[in-house]
Amino acid sequence: MAQPAPSSAQAPTPRHVAIIMDGNGRWARQRNRPRTFGHAEGVEALRRTVEAAGEAGVEYLTVFGFSTENWRRPAEEVNALFDLLRLYVARDLDKLVREGVRVRVIGGREGLQRDIADIIGNAEARTRENAKLNLTIAFNYGGQDEIARAARRVAEDVSSGKLNASDIDAKVFETYLDTDDLPPPDVLVRTSGEFRLSNFMLWQSAYAELVFLDVLWPDFGKDALALAIDVYRRRDRRYGGTTSESA
Ligand code: FPP
Repeated sequence: MAQPAPSSAQAPTPRHVAIIMDGNGRWARQRNRPRTFGHAEGVEALRRTVEAAGEAGVEYLTVFGFSTENWRRPAEEVNALFDLLRLYVARDLDKLVREGVRVRVIGGREGLQRDIADIIGNAEARTRENAKLNLTIAFNYGGQDEIARAARRVAEDVSSGKLNASDIDAKVFETYLDTDDLPPPDVLVRTSGEFRLSNFMLWQSAYAELVFLDVLWPDFGKDALALAIDVYRRRDRRYGGTTSESA
């Protein structure tokens, strides 16, 4: 018979928290402001969340900043999102370096403006030795695109003789993903009350606990992160096996 899930006092802090930062547009609309205002406030929420994740002992924080599908939005909004990445790195990189945060950006690099590719490369290089918190920004990222890009590289390695087709299994395949050096997320949080993955970390989230919060992203911060962690800690993770309590 199923046992009660562990209480939050016993269960560990998630090592890797992934977040779909949703609801910026609705937050702005509620205030009769343009959607871009909501995104700008979303950056403030991101800054609060990076701080709070470090304090909570989370080792990996991965956030969805711009999806391969977001190119369908009006050019003005797309440009605003690119500007916010520029602004975030310009304002916060020195602090992130000082505070031991390692920055990574996952997603396709093709189609990105040259200065954005340089900003990403510089942020990754300057924080490479940091280890307190791993902040990964998914930018121009889509899970299906990531898997297709990985499959292309696998095919290239097979045709060049570097890899035997018979050696390909899940363990080998995932070394070709953008997240090669990250553990899988323990918990995947989506804000704004929507119940979708929207092409985020499809492979990596196979056993992530999904937490959907009814809070718009610009209102997110320390309290909402603590709530998400608390919900996660009450879950019983079984990875396809039997309940952890009866093991
Ligand atoms: C979803 O809200 C949010 C996004 C598409 C972008 C998330 C970006 C930020 C939080 C800004 C920080 C980004 C970086 C890269 C530093 P939505 O626009 O879909 O909201 P809606 O569903 O209410 O319309």
